[in-house]
Amino acid sequence: MEIKVVVADVTLVETPVLVVNLFEGVTAPGGATGAVDKALDGAISRLIEQGEIKGKKGETNLIHTFGKLPAERVLVLGLGKSEKFDQDSVRQVMAQACKFVRSHGLRRLTTIAHGAGIAGMDAGASAQAIAEGAILGLYRFDRHVSKSNDKGQIDLIEIVERDASKAAALESGVEQGRIVAEAACMARDWVNEPANVMTPTRLAEEAKQVAAEHGLEVEVLGREEMQELGMGALLGVAQGSNEPPKLIILRYKGNPDNPKQDLGLIGKGITFDSGGLSLKPADRMDEMKGDMAGAASVICAMAAIAQLKPRLNVTAIAPCTENMPGGHAQRPGDIVKAMDGQTIEIANTDAEGRLVLADAVAYARKQGLSPIIDIATLTGACVIALGNICTGVMGNNQEVIDRIIAAGKRAGEKMWQLPTFEEYKEQYKSTVADMKNVGGRPAGTITGALIIGEFAGDTPWAHLDIAGTSFTDKESGYQSKGGTGVPVRTLVSLVLDMAA
Ligand code: BES
Ligand code: ZN
Ligand code: ZN
Repeated sequence: MEIKVVVADVTLVETPVLVVNLFEGVTAPGGATGAVDKALDGAISRLIEQGEIKGKKGETNLIHTFGKLPAERVLVLGLGKSEKFDQDSVRQVMAQACKFVRSHGLRRLTTIAHGAGIAGMDAGASAQAIAEGAILGLYRFDRHVSKSNDKGQIDLIEIVERDASKAAALESGVEQGRIVAEAACMARDWVNEPANVMTPTRLAEEAKQVAAEHGLEVEVLGREEMQELGMGALLGVAQGSNEPPKLIILRYKGNPDNPKQDLGLIGKGITFDSGGLSLKPADRMDEMKGDMAGAASVICAMAAIAQLKPRLNVTAIAPCTENMPGGHAQRPGDIVKAMDGQTIEIANTDAEGRLVLADAVAYARKQGLSPIIDIATLTGACVIALGNICTGVMGNNQEVIDRIIAAGKRAGEKMWQLPTFEEYKEQYKSTVADMKNVGGRPAGTITGALIIGEFAGDTPWAHLDIAGTSFTDKESGYQSKGGTGVPVRTLVSLVLDMAA
């Protein structure tokens, strides 16, 4: 799909469908919508008067022009209440518009830059949100469906703007939006792929391809290299599976003059989490193919970062393995030693994310990465606490946490901080090792985070629990069923902010 900017008057563009907009409660449309209304002899204002067009967020009303305009149809897109309008509204309504147009069998649409007129939004921000909303909204995962069910496709989106001086900003906004949205869609694909396809080996191959395509350094460690490094926590998880584990490392050198400053992004890559010997119930175990969403998010964010070229060094690390109950599987009660020498008593083999992350964080620290941010589908408790609405954020450094939350706001990916009081650490004390891998049911999200934090030591560190936000079973706005691509766009926005 191509997205381009055209400098023209909306009343003069030839197109199968022209998308204009309306805020809720507006009775006399202004700007581009007003100009189109005039050309249609007041058809839009009349439909508002009759109560058919209300301007509710995501509302779509199609009007055939029958020659009154070069555009064959006008789609009036509701923007919702003007006081609640922001960049994420543009993403959401643009997704609605694109899906509507596609379902009508049309392959091309022309839109105005929503918000960039009367609402006063920056032209680049509007264009970026349009590109993101369109690409994310039109996403679907049907590569394994062999029965032909042609549901249509949009090939071209044009953003029409009369003011030529805004064209450059619109174009760079589109480019940035396209890069991050495509990265998020790639993460969705990997999460949606079943576990028999997206194995640790396949993830490593995908990472190598990303590196080759965008010019990143890549390194993949296998079982033997991990043994040499003493990654007993990661290898303990991997030993119950026949799939070989992989530690994927991608390096982006955006600021080679300052090699000491290197951001570490670490993503949990459990390509299937059966729970191990502490086996999960059968119900919804299939969703555990998505337990590598953290790994997908950091690798895909690197793809976007490599294209946007911020002045910052970034290293992504993805510890990848299955968690299976094979004959060699680790047992509850086993004690493992992580690469930094700390020992962990395995109280529950299903708390495997913190184990693979323990070694990955220790490795990141040894490499001198700072700050370290880990992203993980870590706890069911986070889904209970925050639902599917926001990602849980914790860490040892408030400045890093605040930056992540702000980046999430810009990206339209909600984050909420949970506390990490010292007292919680009592819960995972062990009498036979340095710690247990679980802290009991109370505050399970927090103790999970703090166990990972033990391996970050005094390095500035934050943890994102995406158990509730990386996967969804309902379609809404620019989100489709399955993988969401969260928090790829937040990570990219954060890196751009840190580099600025
Ligand atoms: N991958 C799961 C967490 C999860 C649950 C992600 C639901 C997405 C949706 C994780 O490995 C796990 O099993 N965590 C346990 C930890 C417990 C044993 C301390 C959990 O949440 O029950
Ligand atoms: Zn688990
Ligand atoms: Zn897991």
